[in-house]
Amino acid sequence: MAAKGIHIEGLSKCYGKGDTAVFALKDANMHVLPGEVVGLIGPSGSGKSTLLKCLGAVINPTAGRMVLGDEIIFDNEWKVRDLRALRRDKIGFVFQAPYLIPFLNVTDNVALLPMLAGVSNAEARKSALDLLTALDVQHRAKAMPVQLSGGEQQRVAIARGLVNRPPVILADEPTAPLDSVRAMAVIRILNDMAKHFETAIIVVTHDEKIIPTFKRIYHIRDGITHEEAGEGRSFD
Ligand SMILES: Nc1ncnc2c1ncn2[C@@H]1O[C@H](COP(=O)(O)OP(=O)(O)O)[C@@H](O)[C@H]1O
Ligand SMILES: [Mg+2]
Repeated sequence: MAAKGIHIEGLSKCYGKGDTAVFALKDANMHVLPGEVVGLIGPSGSGKSTLLKCLGAVINPTAGRMVLGDEIIFDNEWKVRDLRALRRDKIGFVFQAPYLIPFLNVTDNVALLPMLAGVSNAEARKSALDLLTALDVQHRAKAMPVQLSGGEQQRVAIARGLVNRPPVILADEPTAPLDSVRAMAVIRILNDMAKHFETAIIVVTHDEKIIPTFKRIYHIRDGITHEEAGEGRSFD
């Protein structure tokens, strides 16, 4: 059986058919161990979001293999019957656009997922507040999303992606709207999560501030991945 973490082998994705077909991923490979935070870097249109969406079971890959933990989730077809449960229980998404729920306050936006998973409201709100505090946005806990700045919304979205302690976190440009101090705070939290909860984390980024913190980086160009050692610089 495969080691735990994330394994992607020979993954391809073709959007559309015939003359208009776009091959967004071509035999992509990626391996992330539990406890690791790896960077995924590539120019616009190189296939980064497509790779995350395949892994997150948001879109269907065309071919290849994906293993999460000890479960083969895709092998030329989905091997998991309940993709919604897979997304809910195994994968934390931190997307570029925060997509907060407009009629829930900040705390409840973050607490909603654990509440849906059956955690008591009080306990879910406490976990939410702990993460909001770690992300330095606790003073906005009772605010509505529309009242937040772009950077505050992003930090709330990050808290929401982490609150269920998923074994896998997929982050698409999580630090883009943040200044360097807050970007480093996000990197520190992701590394702490990885270490304490054995989470496997993929961070798509262009952000020059955070790229030197990765120990391993995957470069992607025209849908093809290459692995490289990163600087692994300390972020404290
Ligand atoms: N839904 C889609 N339909 C058709 N082509 C798409 C779709 N989504 C992405 N693409 C194409 O796939 C390629 C990779 O896109 P994407 O994964 O979004 O790249 P990145 O996130 O690296 O900017 C691009 O050529 C893009 O235009
Ligand atoms: Mg993208």
